Amino acid sequence: MAIHIPRGWELPESAATAEALVLNRRAAMLGAGVGLLAPGLARAQGAAPTEAAGMMAPPINGKYPPGRPTTPEREATTYNNFYEFGTDKGIYRPAQALPTRPWRVKVDGLVEAPREFDMDDLLKLMPLEQRVYRHRCVEAWSMVVPWTGFQLSALLAQVKPLSRAKYVRFESAALPGVMPGLRQSWYPWPYIEGCTIEEAANELSFMVVGAYGKELPKQMGAPLRVHFPWKYGFKHGKSLVKISLTDQRPKGLWEAIQASEYGFWANVNPEVSHPRWSQASERVLGSGERVPTLMWNGYGEQVAGLYTGLTRERLFA
Ligand code: MTE
Repeated sequence: MAIHIPRGWELPESAATAEALVLNRRAAMLGAGVGLLAPGLARAQGAAPTEAAGMMAPPINGKYPPGRPTTPEREATTYNNFYEFGTDKGIYRPAQALPTRPWRVKVDGLVEAPREFDMDDLLKLMPLEQRVYRHRCVEAWSMVVPWTGFQLSALLAQVKPLSRAKYVRFESAALPGVMPGLRQSWYPWPYIEGCTIEEAANELSFMVVGAYGKELPKQMGAPLRVHFPWKYGFKHGKSLVKISLTDQRPKGLWEAIQASEYGFWANVNPEVSHPRWSQASERVLGSGERVPTLMWNGYGEQVAGLYTGLTRERLFA
């Protein structure tokens, strides 16, 4: 029996564009969009400041200029994919129910020193910095976000990977009490994603704990997500509870559902179309502009070398 799995990226482009324009118009009417918050966000920000909140504006690492203006915060935080909370882009509202403290993340598997970190301890242990990265979704929209976080390599150094470890598997939280999307049982929850150990060790691979100089909004994957700026956004697991080193290639949630469309590597390449649409250009959130997509999302200098010799792999899907 064929199961129809509704996916946000099945939206016709015209519908998605219209939504972005509506958001833009509303922002313009209210005055430039800076500092404007949707109702759910305003409530979330009314919460008492935490110690973590004071750590979210470390210096910006200027080594990775994004080459494009930063997306207005309001646009980036009200247009999200987080299927545990629903399939539409407005999940910032239900996502406010996610409890992000206390939060523990296990780092285990093929390592010398497996550990479970309390989130606040982890923040004190890691070398926090800000990086302004381009973020390209497989659905052909993009944004530029100032993330706060630390290199994934710094976290892995804490647990000392064994030489047998070939891959890193990222597991997101699955909390049925607050995540209505988990009732959609045709998705193989929890949300899993993965990368190779070489990709994890790359200088660009970043563990994200904040955005726009503040704690990471829940809808963006608080309190901890991963970001590989040269890969399509579905590789960036949100609200992580477990990071495991393994010798087995992890199968991501989307790959498990539709391997012909969503593969393991998912590197951005404008010349390799998705089976149902072109990846040659992207809609820039917040501006309504459409711009050409760049090979490796513009990060070839740092990552192209990771893939030499992998001629048999489907690197771009
Ligand atoms: N992580 C989890 N746990 N659940 C999800 O549904 N969606 C992915 C990724 N990480 C997703 C996830 C997809 S498809 C994208 S494009 C990015 O998150 C979106 O990140 P953003 O909402 O911060 O832009």
